Amino acid sequence: MPDSHDLHIDTRLALLGRPERSVRGAVNVGVQRASTILFSSLADLERANSRKYEPSELYYGTMGTQTTHAFEEAMAALDGGHGAIGVSSGLAACTSAILAFVRSGDHVLVTDSVYDPTRAFCDGMLAALGIETTYYDPTSGAGIAELIRPNTKVVFLESPGSHTFEIQDVPAICRVARERGVVCVIDNTWATPLYFRPLDHGADVVVYAATKYMSGHSDVLVGAVVADKAHYHTVRVAIAALGHCLSPDDAYLTLRGLRTMGVRLERQQRGALELARWLEAHPDVRRVLHPALPSHPGHAIWKRDFLGASGLFAFVLPPARREALVAFFDDFQVFGMGYSWGGFESLILPGTPSEKRTVARWDDEQGTLIRVSVGLEDVRDLQRDLAAALQRWKTAC
Ligand SMILES: Cc1ncc(COP(=O)(O)O)c(C=O)c1O
Repeated sequence: MPDSHDLHIDTRLALLGRPERSVRGAVNVGVQRASTILFSSLADLERANSRKYEPSELYYGTMGTQTTHAFEEAMAALDGGHGAIGVSSGLAACTSAILAFVRSGDHVLVTDSVYDPTRAFCDGMLAALGIETTYYDPTSGAGIAELIRPNTKVVFLESPGSHTFEIQDVPAICRVARERGVVCVIDNTWATPLYFRPLDHGADVVVYAATKYMSGHSDVLVGAVVADKAHYHTVRVAIAALGHCLSPDDAYLTLRGLRTMGVRLERQQRGALELARWLEAHPDVRRVLHPALPSHPGHAIWKRDFLGASGLFAFVLPPARREALVAFFDDFQVFGMGYSWGGFESLILPGTPSEKRTVARWDDEQGTLIRVSVGLEDVRDLQRDLAAALQRWKTAC
């Protein structure tokens, strides 16, 4: 393969994660299921043991097989990281990446717009371990410096937030954190490395719910942690200690999903933007929260740092009685209602910003938040489905 930096992203998505040593003539790597890896000599066994934390080393199934390694290689290359580690869910990626860098008595800074289960982990398990969390305003940029304490070890970012879509000034936050020796971990699930590469903007570790756009078909749970050279080993050792690993079957399916992620995202981006613009012009819609719209408060930063927008956004309806919401949600023909996002099928859901937010609170007076994940259906059918729902809502108001 030519130097991958000479190739455009869709070409790289076609070629990555196909190491010759593993595919052995096939197009795709096969599913290698293994707990035990056999060695033919004591020297080989000892060598593998001494290198077990290195990317792509075959040692024991929990540390990966050829299939998971191929997925990890692809993920690391997409983000320009030293290595990637596959785990069993996006949440496991978030929690293990934080845990890797903290000890009792430490302090972490976490965006107030963070994915709620990550917050629950900080408030529950981290607190029980004697690690304190402070939530920061996602729009605070370099102002986060005021919150850094001598014992602050990690800043955990997520940009945009997956319900309220605040865009963070990632380079500014990472600059001040780095000056103070604080590790920057970012959940980049929304943008994927196709539309934002956090390591290029100062982050140290990137986490993904590969469950979403990477797998793309709503039938796999996968997480990935990508780290630069300075932080890879620490995360790798922590994940091994926790016993997290990724099933080879799920790694295979996610690698397969990666091949089409570029075309899916392009189409989902286009469909989402078309719907967002249409909703913005709709008389019954109060606001649309989509970073690629010029009306979005974070639009300038999004434009500066991101190469695109994925298919997840939200809009706001004025406060209304429950019957109106029931009428809105209960009769969709194309959109499905359920958790998760990033799949080929469109989903709609009441947005649920955490009630526990401290600095970036969602005030119900602002209206009812509705989150949309745009899939691959024809956008005209999605628009008709939404228009009918808005009409039902208005009638029931
Ligand atoms: C932003 C974000 N991060 C992480 C996760 C966790 O992913 P998983 O469902 O694979 O645990 C989610 C899931 O919805 C998410 O929205």
